[in-house]
Amino acid sequence: MPRKPLIAANWKMYKTPAQAQEYVKLFLPLVANHERDEVVLCPSFTSLSVVIAAVTGSGVGVGAQNMYSAEEGAFTGETSPLMLKAIGATHVILGHSERRQYFAETDESVNRKLKMALKHELTPIVCVGEVLAEREAGKTEEVLLRQTRGVLAGITAAEAAPMVIAYEPVWAIGTGKTATPQIASEAHRVIRGEVEKLLGAETAAALRILYGGSVKPDNATALMAEEEIDGALVGGASLDAQSFGKIVNY
Ligand code: PGA
Repeated sequence: MPRKPLIAANWKMYKTPAQAQEYVKLFLPLVANHERDEVVLCPSFTSLSVVIAAVTGSGVGVGAQNMYSAEEGAFTGETSPLMLKAIGATHVILGHSERRQYFAETDESVNRKLKMALKHELTPIVCVGEVLAEREAGKTEEVLLRQTRGVLAGITAAEAAPMVIAYEPVWAIGTGKTATPQIASEAHRVIRGEVEKLLGAETAAALRILYGGSVKPDNATALMAEEEIDGALVGGASLDAQSFGKIVNY
């Protein structure tokens, strides 16, 4: 079965609810009847409800950028998977490099979140990727193997099936430097190979691996032409509806 590409917008900490609503109004006509790819918008928590209401009936999905690994409790400032489900979110980004870098997330904490997202049937988009120093030291493969094993610890093939992985080389995020389609494909093969070892050939073959890191309208087509690349997680270039519309229509 061919893997249906997933193109996701990661708005990071941008846009008020009013700005988010305005964006959706401009964006939906650009992707009307778009069936080739799954399209998902990931706004900040405060805009989730507004965006979910605005995309109703369009086929566009909505995801959160983070969540906590408990259903409820005394965890000030956190958001539970039950809360995301209750408002109609369908996806959740986990372990983004900015969460790892600024908010002390680790493979272990991402693993706990991943289990919880799968339990509550949110489609997790789990981010992995090496920093520049690791790439320059020839450690890319080692890092990807360690992260893949770490985030998947204790998860069965049946449980992992809905999961999506995003390969996001940290040196390419927000820098304007994109991994070449070849570099990205090579990394995706490493990740898929490890998933095959851990969860079996069937799960690995069905797993969607997105590329993220300075995806723009002018490089999306070349990236998406790679057999190993099953979609994109787009930051900066997703903030403008026209620009993200062009990426979705690569
Ligand atoms: P970028 O961000 O497209 O701005 O590089 C990608 C991401 O962080 O998901």
